[in-house]
Amino acid sequence: MCGIVGYIGKQQAYPIIITGLKRLEYRGYDSAGIALWNNELLLYKSKGRVSDLETIVADQDTQSNVGIGHTRWATHGEPNDSNAHPHISMNKKFVLIHNGIIENYSRLKKRLTDRGYEFYSETDTEVLVNLIEYIYLIGKVDAETAIRAALNKVVGAYGLVVFCTDEPDKLIAARKSSPLVIGVGKGEYFIASDATPIIEHTNSVIYLNDNDMAIIKKCELQLKTIHNEELIPTIQTLDLDIGEIDKQGFDHFMLKEIFEQPRSIMDTLRGRIAPDNADIRLGGLFAVMDKLVDAKRIILIGCGTSWHAGLVGEYIFEELARISVEVEYASEFRYRNPILHDDDIIIAISQSGETADTLAAIRMAKEQNVTVLGICNAVGSTISRETHAGVYTHAGPEIGVASTKAFTAQVSVLTMIALIIGHKKKTISTAMFNQMVDELRDIPNKIEKILERNDLIKNIAKEYKNATNSIYLGRGYLFPVALEGALKLKEISYIHAEGYPAAEMKHGPIALIDENMPVVFIATKDNGYEKIVSNIQEVKARKGKIIAIVTEGDETIKQLADHVIEVPETMDFLAPLTTVIPLQLLSYHIAVMRGCNVDQPRNLAKSVTVE
Ligand code: G6P
Repeated sequence: MCGIVGYIGKQQAYPIIITGLKRLEYRGYDSAGIALWNNELLLYKSKGRVSDLETIVADQDTQSNVGIGHTRWATHGEPNDSNAHPHISMNKKFVLIHNGIIENYSRLKKRLTDRGYEFYSETDTEVLVNLIEYIYLIGKVDAETAIRAALNKVVGAYGLVVFCTDEPDKLIAARKSSPLVIGVGKGEYFIASDATPIIEHTNSVIYLNDNDMAIIKKCELQLKTIHNEELIPTIQTLDLDIGEIDKQGFDHFMLKEIFEQPRSIMDTLRGRIAPDNADIRLGGLFAVMDKLVDAKRIILIGCGTSWHAGLVGEYIFEELARISVEVEYASEFRYRNPILHDDDIIIAISQSGETADTLAAIRMAKEQNVTVLGICNAVGSTISRETHAGVYTHAGPEIGVASTKAFTAQVSVLTMIALIIGHKKKTISTAMFNQMVDELRDIPNKIEKILERNDLIKNIAKEYKNATNSIYLGRGYLFPVALEGALKLKEISYIHAEGYPAAEMKHGPIALIDENMPVVFIATKDNGYEKIVSNIQEVKARKGKIIAIVTEGDETIKQLADHVIEVPETMDFLAPLTTVIPLQLLSYHIAVMRGCNVDQPRNLAKSVTVE
């Protein structure tokens, strides 16, 4: 939800900020803007993408060693030039970039309007920058004091950077609920919503915590709280490879990330499974392992694709570890009054580690003394820091807004946790554990084979690129895969898609089936195979178009379906990891053929830091 970048140092700020904003475009791409200082304020903004901003700025003055830039995901006000950040205060004393939401903005706006302030945008951010200026001018205080006072008056979430035209030698950054990272260079500092704009300049970073405020000059950084208490900054070393955030020859990040899955799953498993398959060790869970094994109930929470991974987890935990599991949308869970017990364990699943609803649910659970674990991809993210313990997925940066490799990495981690608990509880025998682990290790090879079918999947996509609706059906472990397949299609191709448990078809969706309705069955040879074959017959009888994901060598479904995509045989509980791959590819190709922006679908953002 909005990406922000700031720079202060000896280099030219403009190229650093523009490159950084491009890296952060996954967070929003409704508008972009930049503020620089060359003895006067240079402010450029534009509706659209960072490249549109570059066009506007092409022959303008960009000479500056300090600057702030923003790429927006609209919350308050439509995406246009005046709503674009940076926002400037009425008397031009302050410029501000902001990621988050100021909840009490309308009350503050009214007060400022009563005192003569005029507003030129519909944004909450413009209210904040004017509030800072108002306090600064009325109180005759310095910029830091004015910002601190303003932040103590706002309710909401922010990751922000402020520049004061009277104090052009510094940037002031602050955070509450929206992420902010500061890169520490030699005589220069980089500020960004995540580390991707920073990594090519330095791998020394400071992650701001909620209520932190950094006062940053070329050669000096002071860290305080917004209550003016001094803090000692902790500098961490980033373990991120710049090569991981390039497309590396692929047309889109999404395709690259789909193809990366054999490696990303291997990275998720690496170092955690003993060479003889006799043991799985997740270092981040050592301290809570006894609690996990004794847990009466596990509650998995997440949003979007991470929630789907949780659903897969539910089936796996119940089957392998015989623990009762609930899977909750974080956004619902946090606003209910859930009944939680001391021996419950909550596992929060999040690629970004920043999703506002998931974070709020974690905080609520912690207040009730429940142990909360995290499964996150982004190292150093807020969720990874606020949970009691956790496991990183190690899938590497996921840039495509539609989640692919993060999903399979999350499912891999959940599988490892379930295997550990099942083994310890003896709900699975040692022999079975060894066999299951062996099979898990082989999943990357099986995915390689599925990826070889990319051309076949592309050909199938050609036939369905003009569809307006579609249904995805699966049973058991493959029901969440149906949901995920449908989500992938709708988010990047804008084709309406519904996922259902296959048996539920007869309770409603079957009414939709005619010769124009594509129905995707995830129907590998598992426990529910015979039943799903019957469901396929039911669709065929109504002339629906059938695309089936089947186990290699399946002749039965081949006779019934219009298209089959084969996946190598594996154990039932691992089939989500293989069967989701063709669905990702199918959505990808359909979206490309429809001319959609696959990596940055309309209205979506990768990291949702608003509620
Ligand atoms: C957004 C993204 C999805 C993602 C969801 C949850 O909606 O577009 O791809 O699944 O947020 O994000 P998280 O980072 O918590 O997994």
